[in-house]
Amino acid sequence: MLQYDIVIVGAGGGGLYAALETSKKKGLKVAVISKVFPTRSHTGAAQGGINAALGNVAPDSPEKHSYDTVKGSDFLADQDAVELMCETAPKIIREMEHMGLPFSRLEDGRIAQRPFGGASFPRTCYAADKTGHVMLQTLYEQCLKNNVTFLDEWFALSLVHNGERIAGIVAVDLKTGEVHGIRAKAVILATGGHARIYWKRTSNALGNTGDGPAMALRAGIPLKDMEFVQFHPTGLRRTGILVTEGARGEGGYLINNKGERFMKRYAPEKMELAPRDLVSRAIETEILEGRGFKDDEGNEFVYLDLRHLGRKKMLERLPQIRELAIDFEGVDPIEEPIPVRPTAHYSMGGIDTDIYGRTRIKGLYAVGECACVSVHGANRLGGNSLLDIVVFGKIAGEDAANYVSEVSFIPFEESRVRDEEERIESLFSGDGTERLADLRNELSDVMTYGAGIFREEKKMRETLEKVREIKERAKRLKIEDTERVFNTNLQQTLEFLNMVEVAETIVLGAIERKESRGAHFRLDYPKRDDENFLKHSIIEKGEDGDLRISWKPVKITKFQPEERKY
Ligand code: FUM
Repeated sequence: MLQYDIVIVGAGGGGLYAALETSKKKGLKVAVISKVFPTRSHTGAAQGGINAALGNVAPDSPEKHSYDTVKGSDFLADQDAVELMCETAPKIIREMEHMGLPFSRLEDGRIAQRPFGGASFPRTCYAADKTGHVMLQTLYEQCLKNNVTFLDEWFALSLVHNGERIAGIVAVDLKTGEVHGIRAKAVILATGGHARIYWKRTSNALGNTGDGPAMALRAGIPLKDMEFVQFHPTGLRRTGILVTEGARGEGGYLINNKGERFMKRYAPEKMELAPRDLVSRAIETEILEGRGFKDDEGNEFVYLDLRHLGRKKMLERLPQIRELAIDFEGVDPIEEPIPVRPTAHYSMGGIDTDIYGRTRIKGLYAVGECACVSVHGANRLGGNSLLDIVVFGKIAGEDAANYVSEVSFIPFEESRVRDEEERIESLFSGDGTERLADLRNELSDVMTYGAGIFREEKKMRETLEKVREIKERAKRLKIEDTERVFNTNLQQTLEFLNMVEVAETIVLGAIERKESRGAHFRLDYPKRDDENFLKHSIIEKGEDGDLRISWKPVKITKFQPEERKY
């Protein structure tokens, strides 16, 4: 059996930062396992930037950053965690600058900052529209320099613990198909988000399938605030591929079929730079009320108009957006507006952790999008995701490194490896009748119908029933490719089984939260209800395998809940 002091699952920004931090402690054996080659992790898709109150463009402070974040979260974020993140932000930006991260610059050489949604000042540091991509490259290089071990193209299947402490994980080496136990004193989950559940229209990479939360759920570890799913306002019309908020930060307009900048009716002050929940609802309302556009294929959309920015700015600040618009929509935004519609983008909910990334099981940590600390509450501000992953990746890495120096390994039951081998064998040997592509599409459709931007009891109940039906039918999934080496059919089946488990928690949380807050908007309860729902939902699996919901208070330090206006 393989053995490391610390195993980190996932090689996006959170996993890599945690790895870097653990590598500072001499003598530790640390491995990062990743389904994909590390620099192909989904962090690379983050375009617009990372927030920090550097004050390079306008006076700013961590306190104002904290206030904007808490207000953006519709007062559901834990304020101690938010303050920690916003205070650490300027330091961690400098740290990455010193690693060589190529930020875009002002004329005088300081790091450039652009306006982003819900922020009082231009606070988002960026590298053109490829910020996550360059962050990933920089952190990976640093990990290599610091001799971090990588197990590339390994897929984590389950967590092993004794009810109190973590013993390690079981994972499959996708290159051989062999299942291995990996013993560890600490495990850091950094598996990313789960918006691939909304398969047909999402900005997420294929691998964002909720593997961490699903493993945690199966291992009896609670998930928090799962009902909150962020829809980014501007996905490309056909594919849902992200068009960065940076495009509106640079001055882009949203236009309906009357030629109006319709955001004036929804957020007169902030206009296109209102927070994402608000802008996404505004776009969908325009479409629902007949002020959108419809193409010959039946796609409905509004326009994002960047023409007035001019060629120079476009090529300098938004070159990737231009390429994506040309490649996927046949539209050059220098000359024509881009057709856009909201796209499933981010999971505010995740594995319940404290501010060190610790979970209920000692030695088990979660960071980044798979975790819920919670710094984003009911709605994340753009640019706070890259910040969250590096800040809490660093903190969890440091905490785990200290923790493993003080404890010994605990026994790892070998039978857990055989259980996973048998689970995979049963997928191969079953005479399944269900096709993966069909179930995936059905899950996407029903989640969009009942757990999308606008929600209501009846549709959510229908959705819950359907998700449970899909979960049953998934037991009869047929794996058509029986090879063991690089079997993507097997991998996608395992990923789907994770998605369907996570989907059930989203709908259950959404039904139980009888109010509207942030990204969770209920037509039947259109108001925020602080009296009854200023609290986190917690979902876990009971002994009988059924999901149970409970609630946990929100930590409020200095920002009292108030009406959220933009
Ligand atoms: O719009 C964007 O560039 C996305 C950034 C984010 O989700 O933080």
